[in-house]
Amino acid sequence: MVLAPAPMRYRARVSSTREAALPAIIARALARPGPCLFLTGAGISAESGVPTFRGKEGYWVVGSRHYHPEELATRAAFGRMPAAIWRWYLHRLRVCRGAQPNLAHQAIAGLAHALGDRFLLITQNVDGLHPRAGTPRERTYEVHGNIAWMRCSRGCEGLALVPEELLASDAAERLESADRAGGAPPPLLGCARCAAWMRPHVLWFDEHYDEASFRFDSSLRAVDSAALLVVVGTTGTTNLPLQIGERAVRRGVPTLVINPEPNAFSALVQGQPETAFLQGTAGHWVPRVVALVRDAGAGVAVNPESNLKLASGVPDIAGWLAAGLKLGLGTDGAASNNDLDMFDTMRTTAMLHMLIDDDPRSMPAQTVLEMATIGGARSLGLGDRLGSLEPGKLADVIVVRMDTARQTPLYNPVSHLVYVTRGDDVRTSIINGKVIMRDRQVLTLDAAKVIADANAMAACKNH
Ligand code: OAD
Repeated sequence: MVLAPAPMRYRARVSSTREAALPAIIARALARPGPCLFLTGAGISAESGVPTFRGKEGYWVVGSRHYHPEELATRAAFGRMPAAIWRWYLHRLRVCRGAQPNLAHQAIAGLAHALGDRFLLITQNVDGLHPRAGTPRERTYEVHGNIAWMRCSRGCEGLALVPEELLASDAAERLESADRAGGAPPPLLGCARCAAWMRPHVLWFDEHYDEASFRFDSSLRAVDSAALLVVVGTTGTTNLPLQIGERAVRRGVPTLVINPEPNAFSALVQGQPETAFLQGTAGHWVPRVVALVRDAGAGVAVNPESNLKLASGVPDIAGWLAAGLKLGLGTDGAASNNDLDMFDTMRTTAMLHMLIDDDPRSMPAQTVLEMATIGGARSLGLGDRLGSLEPGKLADVIVVRMDTARQTPLYNPVSHLVYVTRGDDVRTSIINGKVIMRDRQVLTLDAAKVIADANAMAACKNH
């Protein structure tokens, strides 16, 4: 639950930039069922100092020759020169070990814990920085593997951690002697079952995605049910990630693309509803998007009478409702809205906004009544238990008298509740099935004594 900030002249601050549209896109997306899905690529780790693949520093070097990843990261190349490929992967593993998760990894990890099973991360990165930032492994699909692990190149089952000894400074020499020895793996890189070379647990360019190692089917299924897709720092040059983006946009999944450069993903979302290309770095955008996703689940308690008494300004209730925010109506405390009368609050809310909006239709009585009842329950996350009279919900009921001279004639009960009724028209209150007040007699406490005690305390305070 978030208390509405003092919303001075809110309207004057609304800008038409894409950033201003983000809270509403995210709030509407999160109102849908399904997980909040992140898809990350090498760009998210750039600010940790891990080189990207297609940046100019991303070329692979063996001997004096420069290779593109597509030439060397292949099963075929490993077959020809396993020790050379291992040396390169061990170099990369050392770089990843030396790098720390950055703000973007950390923000995503925090969100993973906040959202639980409403969160899923699909990462192409083999650097392991997401799990190291704390993103739970069961909510992370490493669809290109993880270079801290290795497996048998002939397909024996199971993964093993790359031995620490191979990261020592003399490991490269030992691998060179393996090259010279004509292809037999050194002891640390031999499969315990079949003695064949172990290989890095990554997906190579001449291999196919599968479910068992790389969660191919699960990833596509996750897109189908996603409430929101956030694509961070990837070019979209590999198969599964691009399929994920295309599928999301085809199915109308709200999609945000974060990248300093326009690319295949930004082209996909261009001109599509409920999408945005957020041009810039992961470190800039990811924490902002994560904060908005966290807030999207929150409700707002609007307290207009308190705002009036404290001269705090007027919240843009109609705009916030249109943006999909969950609004509940409140009185605030006795110091800033003395009588704590919810009927008064409803009346003031309606009339204040008609005046501010210069439109007598802008705040219908039904809308105000809903904010005071089911809206309040939803903003507290209790909409399935409170806020309306329905089978299965708690029996919270008030009986309101509507036959006094002030209330006559009665045309429309909803309009009457908002504009005519007062707190002392309530005759009976039932909370969770228990009668608390019957025909204005409070049954659960001695009302006369409470009034006397309050007066006594006030007298003490005044002396
Ligand atoms: P690439 O190296 O192809 O692209 C890196 C992306 O990160 C580019 O779009 C950059 O604009 C972007 N970028 C750079 N700095 C950034 C920053 N600070 N914040 C956000 N974005 C930034 O990396 P990937 O798209 O991840 O596959 O590459 C996909 C796959 O190709 C890799 O997983 C790997 C590779 O070859 C395999 O090994 C199978």
